[in-house]
Amino acid sequence: MKLNFSETGNGENLVLLHAFPLSNEMWQPQIEFFAEEGFRVITPDHRGFGESANFSDILTMEEMANDLVEMLDLLEIENAVFGGLSMGGYVLFEFAKNAGERISSLVFCDTNSSSDTEEKKNNRYDLIKKIEKDGSDALIENMLPNLICESTKKNNTELVLKIEEMFRKTAPESAIAALRGMAVRNDSDNFLPSISVPTAFVVGSEDITTPPDISRKMHALTPGSEYIEIANAGHYSNLEQPIEFNAAILNFLRSR
Ligand code: MLT
Repeated sequence: MKLNFSETGNGENLVLLHAFPLSNEMWQPQIEFFAEEGFRVITPDHRGFGESANFSDILTMEEMANDLVEMLDLLEIENAVFGGLSMGGYVLFEFAKNAGERISSLVFCDTNSSSDTEEKKNNRYDLIKKIEKDGSDALIENMLPNLICESTKKNNTELVLKIEEMFRKTAPESAIAALRGMAVRNDSDNFLPSISVPTAFVVGSEDITTPPDISRKMHALTPGSEYIEIANAGHYSNLEQPIEFNAAILNFLRSR
């Protein structure tokens, strides 16, 4: 499926995959920064999100990863740095399993290589029922409080409102389809030891959705990888602390 994407700058390709239930809009604080640092920044909307269409009741991570291959073929991109935050990371695990030769480096942010526990799956199915009843507002009410940290809630109302606005733009059908897809996603823990490109695991110190312990575990399983913790940030580390996030990732990319 043809994805919508934005493309800014010239230089080494840097493809950034967005989280749920957002769109490529979430990478706004990174796009200009990395373009000015000499990267060609490409930010797709996964199918069903932003300006990319959705045709199905379930959006699987494999399908989203296949869409990415199509987008790269279209752009004639053979090789890139790939970053993914949370659901973007789930998609990136699937992409890396099937298209590893196209990856020069990996940046996994606030994500988890393990599949869902039964409890997590059930939470997703409960949330689906709430979305069926209340639309995207159910996402704001039930998910958002666990995604951003206390200091962001207190000190950055502008960002909170912006994230709420992004949540509202997501079609309820797409949110439901992606929740179904995330619930049945593959476990990628066993894949980590086979990664042979420079890899960083980045996580907000206050992330309670995919806490630092998870990134530490993935880092321990991935040969030669780096672990980066962003202070005073929750799950949306790139939005909550963009200056520190950008500097840490640039430092990782420059030191390869
Ligand atoms: C995300 O930020 O993409 C979601 O929190 C992922 C999830 O629900 O597992």
